[in-house]
Amino acid sequence: MRHTKVKDLLNSTTTLQEINAKGWVRTFRNNQFIALNDGSTINNIQCVVDFENTPDETLKRITTGAAVSVTGSLVESKGAGQKYEIQVNKLEILGDSDAEKFPMQPKKHSLEFLRENAHLRVRTNAFGAIMRVRSVLSFAVHSYFQQKGFVYVNTPIITGADAEGAGEMFQVTSLPLDNLPKTEEGNIDYKKDFFGKHTNLTVSGQLEGETFAMALGQIYTFGPTFRAENSNTSRHLAEFWMIEPEVAFNDLNDNMDLAEDFIKYVVKYAVDNCGDDLKFLEGRLIEEEKSKPQADRSEMPLLEKLGFVMNNDFKRVSYTEAVDILRDSTPNKKKKFQYIINEWGADLQSEHERYLVEKHFKCPVILFDYPANIKAFYMRLNEDGKTVRAMDILFPGIGEIVGGSQREERFDVLVEKMKALGIDEEELWWYLDTRRFGSAVHSGFGLGFERLVLFVTGMTNIRDVIPFPRTPQNAEF
Ligand code: 4AD
Ligand code: MG
Repeated sequence: MRHTKVKDLLNSTTTLQEINAKGWVRTFRNNQFIALNDGSTINNIQCVVDFENTPDETLKRITTGAAVSVTGSLVESKGAGQKYEIQVNKLEILGDSDAEKFPMQPKKHSLEFLRENAHLRVRTNAFGAIMRVRSVLSFAVHSYFQQKGFVYVNTPIITGADAEGAGEMFQVTSLPLDNLPKTEEGNIDYKKDFFGKHTNLTVSGQLEGETFAMALGQIYTFGPTFRAENSNTSRHLAEFWMIEPEVAFNDLNDNMDLAEDFIKYVVKYAVDNCGDDLKFLEGRLIEEEKSKPQADRSEMPLLEKLGFVMNNDFKRVSYTEAVDILRDSTPNKKKKFQYIINEWGADLQSEHERYLVEKHFKCPVILFDYPANIKAFYMRLNEDGKTVRAMDILFPGIGEIVGGSQREERFDVLVEKMKALGIDEEELWWYLDTRRFGSAVHSGFGLGFERLVLFVTGMTNIRDVIPFPRTPQNAEF
């Protein structure tokens, strides 16, 4: 007999005879009530076992974590909180789970403990919900761009280009580690480690994406990217997923419009399609907030926060205006930002970004026109000669969620910038071809997918929104 998903059983409009469900036992109460979960929904279905006619041996094997198959009928439930339950006629243990040893006991576990058990944490309510929301959000990303006629491009994972010029790359080698090519001085010659050439794992698909935008008009990438930055923060991963649209003939304003519209669409899509999971995550957060001091509690429940982002304009401010705001601000009595930012041209630290978003504007902020010297080489220089058409989108509780820009479309200006930064023109000959042949104004951005999932789920550590986080301490799975 084909089994029916728990979600479909719970959404049934009638009682049903002869149904089968398969899943994992969450709890088993009074030798009679199984809370069964199969991953299709946050909700468990209650299965009522005919314990008088079930052998003791079998009852003993109904333990948290065990895989079971239940056959019976879907009947109206007398218990509170659920419309239907399964009256079990036949119960089969598919896979035992030693109750003493199963790490996911039905109690509250710390997030640290769960991270160490990334392969099992998905069996908890919270991680099941997070991973379903993540999946729906990835679908929403494709849905948004496909509806608008963007072409999905798969850019290389192994590449010779350092797209960001920041040097935070994992080297790739095709050679045995004890036989790497050496320079004359006897050091490893990284320029030759991939079949005689130098390569690394991609930090961004942007440069390749630009070449496709200059033919297909509007493209997007959605793939894994890698950064060898040894930063142990709750916002950074060594392996994360990035969405990078690139559009020919778009200027910086069009780019900001696209990013804002895109984010609102995907957030709304999650709200419309992940109701039960988001309600569960909101409840989890409310509980967590109760244990914090009043001053640290967040002002808005999760769903209200998502609604706010969907329905309100993001505030657009230039870097220069933002620095003026920060200079004049007194975030608390002891400390003034003016001591930190006294020079125009410094990069904003996360405490500045958070102040702007959470205290000053109290909404998502798009900062644009940054000083050229703190941004990547490919950004379009403004007429003032010192700022570039960059934009970062800052979100409450997250900080930077998007980084993007209008690109420098002028061949000479771009080459000059590369020279000044010591970027090898010959290595990027193919990129420069976009400016040699039919160059035009174009723009794009990168959205860090995990930061989006953080925002939508209300989680606070990026390690908790990706199935198997890759960080300096964690890569064993
Ligand atoms: O600001 P970034 O470095 O921009 C780029 O890579 C551009 N090439 C994008 C483009 O214009 N096509 O990264 C873009 C976004 C950040 O805003 C952030 O959300 C995310 O990627 N991000 C990270 N997410 C998790 N862990 C990390 N280590 C991240 N580094 C960047
Ligand atoms: Mg950035």
